[in-house]
Amino acid sequence: MKLIIINGPNLNLLGKREPEIYGSKTFEDFFKELQLKYKELEISCFQSNIEGEIIDKLHEVGFDCDGIILNAAAYTHTSVGIGDAVKGITTPVVEVHISNIHAREEFRQHSYISPNASGVLFGFGLKGYDLAIQSFL
Ligand code: DQA
Repeated sequence: MKLIIINGPNLNLLGKREPEIYGSKTFEDFFKELQLKYKELEISCFQSNIEGEIIDKLHEVGFDCDGIILNAAAYTHTSVGIGDAVKGITTPVVEVHISNIHAREEFRQHSYISPNASGVLFGFGLKGYDLAIQSFL
């Protein structure tokens, strides 16, 4: 099974960025743990701070891999383009947010991804990515 985690803007700062919200582990360390836990799976990850690069990646992987785990970060709340890309591809997308976006500012409560996601997980910390993987198994 081929899965990809796509992370949006500022998620390259995990471990350093607002640790009270996002925790103190880097994504690199967490990703190594995931790869060890799911040795039988082919899991890759991609991060970009650039909206168009996230759209290009969705187009590239969205017709042949088995599942996409997408945390579009701030673009979740602003990007019609990423929402349309999720709608336009055939691979199912599980939307993940580390924090509980519904317990935060009003502007975080709208997602352009959710209407076309096969599932949404938020508020479980980094564990949300693991739960998303399990949803594909
Ligand atoms: C986030 C929530 C977004 O509102 C925020 O802009 C992020 C991270 C999360 O994982 O909790 O950058 O997607």
